[in-house]
Amino acid sequence: MAFFFRGRLARKELPDVVPGHIAIIMDGNGRWAKKRGLPRSAGHAAGAEMFRRVATRCKDIGVRYLTVYAFSTENWKRPPDEVSAILELLDKYLREAAEKMERDNVRLRVFGDTSALTDRLRGLIGDTDEISRRTDGMQVNICVNYGGRAELLRAASMYAAELAGGSARTLSEEDFANYLFSAGMPDPDLLIRTGGETRLSNFLLWQSAYSELYFTDVLWPDFDERALDHAIADYAGRARRYGGI
Ligand code: FPP
Repeated sequence: MAFFFRGRLARKELPDVVPGHIAIIMDGNGRWAKKRGLPRSAGHAAGAEMFRRVATRCKDIGVRYLTVYAFSTENWKRPPDEVSAILELLDKYLREAAEKMERDNVRLRVFGDTSALTDRLRGLIGDTDEISRRTDGMQVNICVNYGGRAELLRAASMYAAELAGGSARTLSEEDFANYLFSAGMPDPDLLIRTGGETRLSNFLLWQSAYSELYFTDVLWPDFDERALDHAIADYAGRARRYGGI
């Protein structure tokens, strides 16, 4: 689902065809920091800053959904101070977002198993969920303690519980999608991975079935508005056939 831009920026500044939903694996923060002789946490801080800029750019050009991978179910294996640094950046972002979401008409969701997070973070997520009930503009989904396989297992378990209770019917793809964190949202049109790796790493396994994939060596803290526009221009040149001809 591509949106043609009708917004407030000058036409010449904008890509012609804007994806309705962009998903991003923000990889390369650690290497960005290492190149500069900085601790990995500085790379994540720079990454969080670039996330703000890219989200703003997405909003300005008319992207409807932005889904980013901030913390995977596997990321707990990292040193505790790095885990804390990432979760602290999330805390800061959620606090700032709660102040501005209504003014900017932005919705915010966290995808993932939030039961492993602190009460404080869960409280902040509850606050932004609450605000999102009153806004209907661009939706930002932040994947935290998220894994694609865990999401599919969770969906299957929810369906099984309904089946056991006698309330479920035969499952179609559309029905199943309603058990995912992304229920009710369109699938990503464009999935970007920065940092040079060319794999999905357990991100949006169901939802990315027909997404256009864009891989770049640019490290996430360097992936600025121009780099985003470049990815969108590349996407705009592709023919999407969804298995047809
Ligand atoms: C991958 O780079 C990045 C992460 C595991 C964390 C991403 C987190 C942020 C961008 C900041 C917090 C986000 C928000 C939404 C406030 P890496 O550390 O694996 O980099 P490397 O491959 O170079 O080591």
